[in-house]
Amino acid sequence: MTITELPAIRWGIIATGMISSWFVEDLVLEWEEVKVKHIIQAIGSSSLQKGQDFAAKYCPKQSPQIYDSYAEVYKDDDVDIVYIGTPHGYHYRDCMEAIAAGKNVLCEKSFTLNAKQAREIFETARAKNVYVAEAMWLRHRPLYIELKRLLHEEKVIGDVFRANCDFASDIGLTNLPDTSRYRDISLGAGSLLDIGVYSLTWMMLALNDRPAGQGEKPNIIAAQTHEDGIEVTTSAILQYPSTHRQGIVTTTNKASGPPGEIFAIIHGTEGFVEVEGRAPSIPESFTVYPKQKRGAADRCFFKRENWQGQRHEYGPVGRGFVYEAQNTALDVLAGRKESSIMPWAETIYIMEIMDEIRRQGKTIYPGE
Ligand SMILES: NC(=O)c1ccc[n+]([C@@H]2O[C@H](COP(=O)([O-])OP(=O)(O)OC[C@H]3O[C@@H](n4cnc5c(N)ncnc54)[C@H](OP(=O)(O)O)[C@@H]3O)[C@@H](O)[C@H]2O)c1
Repeated sequence: MTITELPAIRWGIIATGMISSWFVEDLVLEWEEVKVKHIIQAIGSSSLQKGQDFAAKYCPKQSPQIYDSYAEVYKDDDVDIVYIGTPHGYHYRDCMEAIAAGKNVLCEKSFTLNAKQAREIFETARAKNVYVAEAMWLRHRPLYIELKRLLHEEKVIGDVFRANCDFASDIGLTNLPDTSRYRDISLGAGSLLDIGVYSLTWMMLALNDRPAGQGEKPNIIAAQTHEDGIEVTTSAILQYPSTHRQGIVTTTNKASGPPGEIFAIIHGTEGFVEVEGRAPSIPESFTVYPKQKRGAADRCFFKRENWQGQRHEYGPVGRGFVYEAQNTALDVLAGRKESSIMPWAETIYIMEIMDEIRRQGKTIYPGE
């Protein structure tokens, strides 16, 4: 089937920042497993010029309608689904306005500032009978889906009993203006909502073997550190009451680890898994190590090269948004209102965990 024969979906892009540019680059990418033709129907921006420059740079072969407001995208009858790429603090407003206009929505992570806002959005979406999903692209990646299957269906390392994940990314906070989304608390500034949500998402893969949206509530012990009123470092221990599994979630926006390193380790009764990549949001491979028996005088045990693991590599396809974009488009075209990969209950579940981490860490957003 050629691209012109594929079912088509028409996107309205809200905001022209970094993530919108990455997403649109992948929407227009031609790749092997393409099943949907993505049309960039409209772009809404605070400025017409920004919208025009964005379209010329990231989707030059398409001719979207450019608007100097988001509201006009919501009003455009030719838009099937709106993608929201604004800062966290605006997700509630932007989702509610798009839904009120009857639009389907894919909204960037973290979905909202708190679980209460997420619940309200989903209630409104239900009443308006529209599709809404959190754009947690990591969950759509084949690597993530396959590792979850290997751990919990094939039990390649036996019973998983603990895991950890760290996301460290130096954003140069002190050099940023107060208006930056990384510094402005009303925009949802803070490392947990920005990148810690990925560390948490790896815990969901490792420790939560129930279907998405049906996870058991973990007990949580958390600490957060603030600078100039902005949360910059978070550590949390999760423990699941029924399985006793433990996870350690850490994140900071004050420092970066070397790219390509191991960012998550998952331990089971029969071995362990290391997950590597440029960042926890951009995993590239994982290695499954079977448990080794250790003799009393076994010097080999302490040398890394003596551990033989099976490595699973996943080459990049575009920037990695192709899977999320395609799954979302197929959902909408099929008339579904929720994503099976990131259902509403799962977004609320994640937001509730982050609410509890913030309650203990004393991070409060305006209006809370
Ligand atoms: N999936 C991922 O890997 C990933 C990566 C990075 C970020 N994100 C998420 O994407 C969202 C946006 O992040 P970003 O890095 O793209 O941000 P960004 O580069 O700052 O862009 C945000 C855009 O939102 C619009 N906006 C409206 N009001 C704004 C305000 N008061 N301050 C700043 N921007 C405002 C602007 O677009 P207009 O002027 O065109 O209206 C701006 O370009 C966040 O939720 C973030 O967590 C996801």
